[in-house]
Amino acid sequence: MLGKKTAVIYFSHTGVTRSLVEKFPLEEGDLCVELIPSAPYPKSYFKTLARAKAEIEGNVSVDLENAKQNLRDYERILIGFPIWFWTCPKAVTSFISENDLRGKTIYPFCTSGGIQITEAADEIKRTAEGATVKKGMRFKRYSEDALIKWLDQ
Ligand SMILES: Cc1cc2nc3c(=O)[nH]c(=O)nc-3n(C[C@H](O)[C@H](O)[C@H](O)COP(=O)(O)O)c2cc1C
Repeated sequence: MLGKKTAVIYFSHTGVTRSLVEKFPLEEGDLCVELIPSAPYPKSYFKTLARAKAEIEGNVSVDLENAKQNLRDYERILIGFPIWFWTCPKAVTSFISENDLRGKTIYPFCTSGGIQITEAADEIKRTAEGATVKKGMRFKRYSEDALIKWLDQ
């Protein structure tokens, strides 16, 4: 993407983050993976809230169908998610814990109802031992200029 081999790893529950990723200018050789929890979240918004809250408060790891990814060849790793309770869903930290990201450069991005990415990016920094975590980006809507500027930091 934009001249560097890029892996985009994301979680999306209601499709907003997925639609955003679909607009990214991926190129041949890039990797794009949607993280799939082994136990799907309920359709009910309130049931999802309850489960998400319990996972975040209890620091529970979430089993993923596709947690292990071969990221050896990628210079940039973008990790995207919806903000859940001011932070990132446990699917995201579970993915990071399952993969060796030492020496990698991570770019966290999110969509949200309004909350910024700060707390989620801090959580990713704490989890991704030995990786460089760049400034996070909250996308209100897709903008290629904003994407380029963010990746150029
Ligand atoms: C369990 C849950 C918790 C959420 N917590 C927050 C929050 O703390 N702050 C916020 O701005 N939005 C919050 N949202 C809204 C989502 O971040 C927002 O709708 C996001 O764009 C959804 O992305 P997705 O469709 O890719 O899952 C929450 C949504 C859910 C389902």
